[in-house]
Amino acid sequence: MCGIVGGIAQRDVVPILMEGLKRLEYRGYDSAGVAVLDERQHIQRIRSVGKVAALKDLIDGAALSSSLGIAHTRWATHGMPAERNAHPHMSGERVAIVHNGIIENYADLRQDLSAKGFTFTSETDTEVIAHLLADVLASEPDFIKAIRKASSKLVGAYALAVVSPDDPDQMVVIRAGSPLVIGLGVGENFIASDVFALLPVTQRFIFLDEGDLAHVSRDEVRIFDDQGRQVEREVRTSRVSASSAEKGPYRHYMLKEIFEQPAVIAETLEGRIHKGKLLEDSFGFEAKQLLDKTQNVHIIACGTSYHAGLVARYWLEEVGIHCSVEVASEFRYRQVVVPENTLFVTISQSGETADTLAALRGAETQGYLGSLTICNVPESSLVRESNVALMTRAGPEIGVASTKAFSTQLVALRLLVLALAKRRGMSTERERELVEELHALPRQVEVILELNDAIKEMANAFAEKNHALFLGRGSFYPIAMEGALKLKEISYIHAEAYPAGELKHGPLALVDAEMPVICALPDDPLLEKVISNLQEVRARGGELFLFSDQKVKIGLDRFQNLTLSDIYPSTAPIVYTVPLQLLSYHVAILKGTDVDQPRNLAKSVTVE
Ligand code: G6P
Repeated sequence: MCGIVGGIAQRDVVPILMEGLKRLEYRGYDSAGVAVLDERQHIQRIRSVGKVAALKDLIDGAALSSSLGIAHTRWATHGMPAERNAHPHMSGERVAIVHNGIIENYADLRQDLSAKGFTFTSETDTEVIAHLLADVLASEPDFIKAIRKASSKLVGAYALAVVSPDDPDQMVVIRAGSPLVIGLGVGENFIASDVFALLPVTQRFIFLDEGDLAHVSRDEVRIFDDQGRQVEREVRTSRVSASSAEKGPYRHYMLKEIFEQPAVIAETLEGRIHKGKLLEDSFGFEAKQLLDKTQNVHIIACGTSYHAGLVARYWLEEVGIHCSVEVASEFRYRQVVVPENTLFVTISQSGETADTLAALRGAETQGYLGSLTICNVPESSLVRESNVALMTRAGPEIGVASTKAFSTQLVALRLLVLALAKRRGMSTERERELVEELHALPRQVEVILELNDAIKEMANAFAEKNHALFLGRGSFYPIAMEGALKLKEISYIHAEAYPAGELKHGPLALVDAEMPVICALPDDPLLEKVISNLQEVRARGGELFLFSDQKVKIGLDRFQNLTLSDIYPSTAPIVYTVPLQLLSYHVAILKGTDVDQPRNLAKSVTVE
């Protein structure tokens, strides 16, 4: 939530900041702004409501240029999207600040600062930081000391970048709960919320630790830990290319990412299975030690990643591992009973979701065996703070609606399930079968993608609808939840998922010709039960949209159906997800919504 970028160079940094903002837009896009120090060492600020493109028009019109600047794209927390609430925030002409996170004690600070005569022009928590710093600077002229002192008064999670005419040859950044990276150049350095923002200018990064404060000048980066001691942090080279975060020939990132699934699933399996065997050594030694002791699993995640966890619960319990799954925002605030030998598993695309991270941190003292994260971003906080990371290799996911991250999470979970099942005496024959089923998955997904045109046709029936019901049973219930989430987040059609057997306990009352009902019908032991539930829908005039296994005999009167063939039960939930993603995509196109950046949402939720 919110993206920040900054740069100090010999050259004009404004185009670099603008490109960085565009790449960070997935984090929030209700307003954006830039502040630079001009050659007279005055702060020049331009802000705009709406997307980065709107800001760019203003910047181009003003011919803004500078060798030092900071910029921000916002996802509103405190204060509605409006120019006055857009960052950077300033205190007089003294400081300009961009911020990602939430300052929890901002109301108290605002009251104190107002009493001291500071005038607030926004409703944000960030403006409080700007005035607080200006207040401290009045008695502490050393800029760095003043920042340290001011930040010690802040309660909450934040990443900050600050520039000031008082110190015109550097910017200062702090990481305290929200992500921040430093991108290293030659005679120039940059900062941003993530590496993607800076890939056009560098591949060398420093990932700040919690509590770090860094002075970033043209020729050096000096980092101090939360005790004020100067420290060295490792410089890492990113293997992600700048173009991997581009749209290519696709109209939207979401479509590109749906179509990338065969490749990224294969990538996620690479080196982890071979000739009918799970190559568990690829998980690392620490993983082996943890998995040897694991009797129970607690999975914590948010959004789409939570749905992946729900699917895994069915898979894990099938092989005798007790598993509970919970959204991180609930888990982190309740008392939990942790059975002996329980592995704490987080699932996250970004590895920065604030609730998931807080849950992991809280779990450290709750008696878990250890922590394992299934994550897509190698340099993320979750990866760094978990005992073991099982990486999905989906590559950058930019569309706010998660697609390829979900399918690769499920693939990683299948690998985890296999590893645990082997410890429970799974035969080599069964291991071979299951591994072969995983191996076949990329090709199966490719075949499903060939249904794209037929799904586009099916989507026409949804364009005028206001509600939709997704049904599923067993591990297809979470797939129905994921289908409903996709539809609601990008098409704004109200969509609900229900376990098909629960239909008669309420939602059946809603069913009529205006309520499309969507259901995956895999060839599994619950098939007959689900078909009976669908009969109940038809009997009430409900419109059915089905995705069924070729072998399935449906025996209903009117419905639209697309058949899928050669699907294996162990990976079927992954395969059946793909047509639901495409359906949502095409409905959103018909609705004319902003597919990649749906209203009110953001991809990386780094606030509570
Ligand atoms: C946001 C995104 C979702 C994502 C969820 C969890 O809501 O829009 O796509 O599933 O956060 O994010 P994570 O990065 O932890 O998977």
